[in-house]
Amino acid sequence: MKKSYRILIVDDEESVRRMLTTVFTRDGHQPICAEDGQQALELFEQQTPDIVLMDIRMPKLNGMEALQVMRQTHQSIPVILMTAYAAVETAVEALRLGAFDYVIKPFDLDELKMMIGRAMQLREMKQEINLLHRALSDSYQWDRILTNSPKMMELCKDTAKIAQSNASVLITGESGTGKELIAKAIHYNSPRAKGPFIKINCGALPESLLESELFGHEKGAFTGAQTQRQGLFERANQGTLLLDEVGEMPHNLQVKLLRVLQEREFERLGGSQTIKTDIRLIAATNRNLAAMVEQGEFRQDLFYRLNVIHLSPIPLRERPEDISLLAQHFLQKFSAENGKEIVELDPSTLTILESYPWPGNVRELSNAIERAVIMSTGFIIFPDELPEHLQQQLNVPHISETVHTLIGHTLKENLKAYERELICTALANNQGNRVQTARVLGISRRALMYKLQEYRID
Ligand SMILES: Nc1ncnc2c1ncn2[C@@H]1O[C@H](COP(=O)(O)OP(=O)(O)OP(=O)(O)O)[C@@H](O)[C@H]1O
Ligand SMILES: [Mg+2]
Repeated sequence: MKKSYRILIVDDEESVRRMLTTVFTRDGHQPICAEDGQQALELFEQQTPDIVLMDIRMPKLNGMEALQVMRQTHQSIPVILMTAYAAVETAVEALRLGAFDYVIKPFDLDELKMMIGRAMQLREMKQEINLLHRALSDSYQWDRILTNSPKMMELCKDTAKIAQSNASVLITGESGTGKELIAKAIHYNSPRAKGPFIKINCGALPESLLESELFGHEKGAFTGAQTQRQGLFERANQGTLLLDEVGEMPHNLQVKLLRVLQEREFERLGGSQTIKTDIRLIAATNRNLAAMVEQGEFRQDLFYRLNVIHLSPIPLRERPEDISLLAQHFLQKFSAENGKEIVELDPSTLTILESYPWPGNVRELSNAIERAVIMSTGFIIFPDELPEHLQQQLNVPHISETVHTLIGHTLKENLKAYERELICTALANNQGNRVQTARVLGISRRALMYKLQEYRID
């Protein structure tokens, strides 16, 4: 059965309203008409249509103004604008304000019908995704590891195998690369999945507190210990304990941890009773533990015990194929969380994301997209909704400006002058950092050095 939609038609020209009413009634829909923006808003509120078709140029309140009010009250109702002028700027502005799409008058009816079909289909899909998303986030506390990178896929495969064992795992990698996510993936895919997953940040607590957090204490073990308290080694029993920032663990505690790993037993602070514990231990750090061992900052025997299996997620800049995938994922996630219906990234937004080196890795990308989703009022994320330091990635001079100043020279001279200018801008944007500049320009550092010399850039 074909679906019947309530379609709000807004146009100050009676002939347009009459024509569209006839067509849509014949197709089994229920058209409602308004002749200016103000009346449109009244009907919009009273009747909550499924979709709105609206002229831009109208008396009282124009289409752009009415659109803005509609987007604020019912974001999920798509609005298609009709414009008599092939003014691309108005149309782009309309998209930015949240219009689903626009048609230029005189329009092709079949095209308009197809557009309505697409808008309604998308709306239904979005509603379904939102429902699924809610159901999913209720049943799992962790996101799946998403990747298109062969190296990361290898790591995911390893994760599945490792989950079946009980071996200790060491996860090292830059901040925000997904270390905690990997630890959760191991836990929730392991036979311990029903047991607790507990994380402690070894760098966040002073030594004495960290010690009592991990081992627990008996009543009166120290001033302030008024009751007996279980530590994490007990609470994580039959589950997984993640020691985050393990490189920050004080020396004295490293010795005590080693014993827990070897004997699987310990005593609470101030206690004499030996307690057995059955935990899987995962340690994570963004420091180079092997180097710390060499410098005597980390115990070698503990390092070997933790490092039974070593996983190392690579930085995001070394897997650019993941940027678009993860950006889309975060777009959906934060869109659903914020009750928005953003569906895509503008191509220039994606270009910026893909050329930025992401020192904060996946977390930084996630934060950038969350911010953009919150700032955006439309269906598409535009570059100016990204954090400012990201927008600077695109700050290269427009080619025509450069070429204008150089007319009269050969093509090669022009290209060279333009190349020089691009390099200077990229260097400035990256605070003179050559490694980063080369990366942004997509050339090797050697090639960049060569060009710096050739163009005598300091
Ligand atoms: N491959 C991925 N797929 C989906 N989400 C990811 C992926 N990698 C990281 N994330 C998400 O990015 C955020 C940062 O990841 P996580 O906390 O695991 O990083 P981390 O390496 O532990 O960072 P830090 O060193 O700062 O503690 C989390 O929200 C995580 O869910
Ligand atoms: Mg972490």
